[in-house]
Amino acid sequence: MASSWKLELTRRPRRLRRTPAIRALVAETTLDAGDFIAPLFVVDGRGAPEPVGSMPGVARYNIDDLAREAVELQALGVPAVALFPCLDASLKDDVGSGALDANTLVLRAVRAVKKAAPGLVVITDVALDPYTTHGHDGVLTAGRDDVDNDRTVDVLRKMAVLQAEAGVDLVAPSDMMDGRVGAIRGALDAAGFTNTGILAYSAKFASAYYGPFREAVGSAKAAGTTLLDKHTYQLTAANRREAITEVQLDESEGADIVMVKPAGPYLDIIRDVREATRLPVAAYQVSGEYAQIHAAARMGWLDLERCRAESLLAIKRAGADMILTYFAKDMAKALRAARG
Ligand code: PBG
Repeated sequence: MASSWKLELTRRPRRLRRTPAIRALVAETTLDAGDFIAPLFVVDGRGAPEPVGSMPGVARYNIDDLAREAVELQALGVPAVALFPCLDASLKDDVGSGALDANTLVLRAVRAVKKAAPGLVVITDVALDPYTTHGHDGVLTAGRDDVDNDRTVDVLRKMAVLQAEAGVDLVAPSDMMDGRVGAIRGALDAAGFTNTGILAYSAKFASAYYGPFREAVGSAKAAGTTLLDKHTYQLTAANRREAITEVQLDESEGADIVMVKPAGPYLDIIRDVREATRLPVAAYQVSGEYAQIHAAARMGWLDLERCRAESLLAIKRAGADMILTYFAKDMAKALRAARG
């Protein structure tokens, strides 16, 4: 039965959602390949890429393949890569000596990537976890029940100078030791590397979402558990204010870019950080976030492409200027295809 009832409305927000073109016009946030930093894993030798079981589509590359991958990323418009070495267990020790070997894997990888793709921004982690048998980010205290802050920082500043010498654009302290950003800035400047920047993992939380990464670099295997406890240096998931304190300290010590990590479960922190600093803000969509989406898609429970895009858009909307993501290449390809 037809009704004469009419809903009289001045505002009908659905007008701006009617067609894809109108929706594009009013989009407040967009994704671009230029937003992404691709994390890449490197191994020694000449072997074929080694797939990382818990990260479908991600592999550890030998240096030649890594350089090729970097060139492909650059061609797709991805401006930066972050390199992570997976060291043979024989090269690890209790104090992470390998980190100060001037010819260690990641430094050779940096030189190869810089040669193959000179314009690409190359980033390396400053932390000892790939080099220690216990998988911690620093050297242990005499009692072996904690990471020794100041001794670790002394190693990290030397490590950062080696990375700068190899040609990285940004060193990325991911260790969460107190005072490391200032010490690294001082060491870089003293060695003449005033143009090498610091991308600080400022608000890095002690997270279970790093599990697949630890498989990829072998830091979990070394420690015998994927739940390696880093709570005495990484932030507690419960704390928002403390994250801002860390960001402010890193900024005052000379960080050029600050980072929040993980990203998806910490969108409130990304927003807080965006409002607390004028520095560029990076967010790291970590291995577990990537694995989660892939796993659900494999089960047929989530749509991979749409969840991938939505997860990244949410991180950008929260306030990230750049996103470290294992989806970088696939997302850059998808964005290119969508543009036609
Ligand atoms: C090491 C480091 C970690 C990640 C980046 N650098 C792991 C950790 O702190 O144990 C995690 C990245 C990811 O999960 O994708 N300092």
